[in-house]
Amino acid sequence: MSSLPLPDPKFADTAPYRYPTDTGPASATRVGSPSAPIELDIVVFGGHGDLAQKKLLPSLYELYRDGHIPEQSRVVGIGRKAMTDDEYRAMMAEAIEQGTTAAEYNRDVANRFLARVVYRELDGADETQLGTLGPFFAEAPNRPRTYYLATPPRLFGPICRTLGRCGFLNAASRVVIEKPIGRDLASARAINQQISEHIDEAQVFRIDHYLGKETVQNLLCLRFGNALFEPLWRRGRIEYVQITVAETLGVEDRAPYYETAGALRDMVQNHLIQLLCLVAMEPPASLHPDSVRDEKLKVLSALRPIIGETVREKTVRGQYTAGAIGGRSVNGYIDEAGVAPDSDVETYVSMQVDIDNWRWAGIPFYLRTGKRMHERLSEIIVQFEPVPHNIFSNRTGGNGDGRPGALDANRLVIRLQPDEGIRLQMMVKQPGRHMRLKPVSLDLNLATAFAGRSLSAYERLLLDVTRGDPTLFMRRDEVEAAWSWTDHILRGWEEHEVRCKPYVSGSWGPSKAVQLLGRNQHTWPEDNA
Ligand code: BG6
Repeated sequence: MSSLPLPDPKFADTAPYRYPTDTGPASATRVGSPSAPIELDIVVFGGHGDLAQKKLLPSLYELYRDGHIPEQSRVVGIGRKAMTDDEYRAMMAEAIEQGTTAAEYNRDVANRFLARVVYRELDGADETQLGTLGPFFAEAPNRPRTYYLATPPRLFGPICRTLGRCGFLNAASRVVIEKPIGRDLASARAINQQISEHIDEAQVFRIDHYLGKETVQNLLCLRFGNALFEPLWRRGRIEYVQITVAETLGVEDRAPYYETAGALRDMVQNHLIQLLCLVAMEPPASLHPDSVRDEKLKVLSALRPIIGETVREKTVRGQYTAGAIGGRSVNGYIDEAGVAPDSDVETYVSMQVDIDNWRWAGIPFYLRTGKRMHERLSEIIVQFEPVPHNIFSNRTGGNGDGRPGALDANRLVIRLQPDEGIRLQMMVKQPGRHMRLKPVSLDLNLATAFAGRSLSAYERLLLDVTRGDPTLFMRRDEVEAAWSWTDHILRGWEEHEVRCKPYVSGSWGPSKAVQLLGRNQHTWPEDNA
């Protein structure tokens, strides 16, 4: 296990900043914990990009507003576009206003925060240019620095090398990198190797923003904070698991990236596989970051490779065509700006994943994700086995729904978005003189159960970076194991010429996805609604 860097005593502030050793995932009690944070410098490479504008600066503003980033901290945006500090601040002022709700936005606080933000036009991979930051850092030489690499992955290695050569990395530095880390196992390994030559693994924070979502963290609490589910969480009790991440958005203005990625690399290799790991992993011994990540790694190692022709049977690729979403007509993928006219890049994937271990042998995990789907919805469905013997089957009168005596098996639905919550569907008796049963849900709506604002995924993860807590970040071996499994599918698609099936925007994906489950007599939730 790699240990976290010990705080350099010279960084000791009047208020004790703790590099947590008993790091655990986010919980309401940890937010705003009494240990006061110390001043930081946060350097954002790709400082005027989409991610910086849509997520990073708004999240940093929120953390600043809530006192998680102290007053004198500084943010440096780095990019190759010529821009003055004032122009950059104006751009970010707009991004912050757009990226926060009216209740969260406070112009005075935003201005105070923006006064701590500067912009530097430079190439982060060029030593001479990056070196010009020396005097700026020298004004506060002892501050821990976080370098956020919101850049294409090919720059991760070169930027780390340049940071190292400029002497800007020390034991208190952290480097945050965004997915996708590479586009296959070989490129991911090369990137990880380049980074490791300049900074310790414990200082590298690989973001998968899905792990920062409240309900995703709640999965750990649900499974390991309650005795109820664990005995049932296995083959023999669970019939199948479905993980859906559906978006209504299309590719938007990201075609140049998306054309090189597709849904498998963009969503499955990271977000969906991470969700699968949290559902399938064994109970970790503790919430120590490596304890959790070791268990996730075991799941990754147990994923059955989808090899050769089995890609046809176990996976479905799709691409959206023109249609309507929420009453608005939308283009097909092919007609989006920047997409090649003959592009076969998938905007949808569904698949059956098998986990070869004692707990899950024979239990299918169905994953699916797509753009321009019927609705924005991310959820995990755990479908339990039906009762072994139905004592209601011979009852006359039926359930009032035309299905005499039918019993729906229990189903646990963990909703990640839009409305975060947990629902347990069970059969209950309908009031009245007949013994009629009906599926009804025990509903936990997180927004109404807990008052107050919860942290967004990026806030949560940025906060964890500043605290040095890597629990919710991907370790190098996890990323590489996920790529190793994904590579088989990519190869299978290529070798067996698996083309995308069209699906109409606003639908639930290609009809072939229904057959994927139909083979096992299973259905997607919308097909039996
Ligand atoms: C990103 C993908 O990682 O996740 C995007 O690159 C996708 O293509 C996004 O739209 C979805 O995130 P969320 O949090 O909106 O579900």
